Amino acid sequence: MTLEEQTPQEIASQLRKPEGATGVAMGDHMNEGNQAINLTAYKKLELKDNQHLLEIGMGNGKFIPHILNLAKNLRYTGIDFSKTMVASAINHNTKAIENGCVSILEESIENIPFPEASFDQICTINTLYFWPNPLDNSKELLRVLKSKGKLIVAIRPKEIMDAMEITKYGFTKYTAKEGQELLSKAGFKNVTFETLDEPDYKFDKESVKLQGSFIIGYKE
Ligand SMILES: C[S@@+](CC[C@H](N)C(=O)[O-])C[C@H]1O[C@@H](n2cnc3c(N)ncnc32)[C@H](O)[C@@H]1O
Repeated sequence: MTLEEQTPQEIASQLRKPEGATGVAMGDHMNEGNQAINLTAYKKLELKDNQHLLEIGMGNGKFIPHILNLAKNLRYTGIDFSKTMVASAINHNTKAIENGCVSILEESIENIPFPEASFDQICTINTLYFWPNPLDNSKELLRVLKSKGKLIVAIRPKEIMDAMEITKYGFTKYTAKEGQELLSKAGFKNVTFETLDEPDYKFDKESVKLQGSFIIGYKE
């Protein structure tokens, strides 16, 4: 079944956890539709040489080669709870995995399998809508981040999501301000946000206006 033949509920479910052949197609579709928000989030990390980045919910990992070029000698760890996305991300990055600069794991944000203070930076793009326990999950991000480390949570803000029918099914929508409040409550410091316009995109048979909100916080 192609993506066009899916009901809004099925599309929403595949966005939350892409599975099987339809999930692979959804991964490719997301690369196109989410390119601007992804590339902007990676740029805003301002990665420095030798840093170790954790990404939660990286999808099919097609942007990892781009990330590795943003500074020298970077290490990248991606976790995603979709078996299908983990297999695709491994497939797209075999050389970098063999070289030891990339690891991809099938894990959930609920229980990140690394000790405290493991990462210089963390990013997660278009996943906040699906976090099962947002406050606990934010605290889990804080736990594995190093002191002075930076987190970027990139979302499509609630005002934009409300215009898309699929977001009625299983999405928890946030304004950028609500995202800021969540991270502050979890213990992140100096939490700020910025919302930027993206080129319009045809999604779910309709042309939609897109924006990305970038919520940035630090560990003390
Ligand atoms: C809408 S896709 C976004 C993919 C990519 N970041 C992008 O912006 O194109 C959401 C991704 O997050 C993953 N995901 C959702 N909930 C998760 C969780 N609790 N833990 C880890 N990954 C999760 C999904 O499997 C999926 O690959």
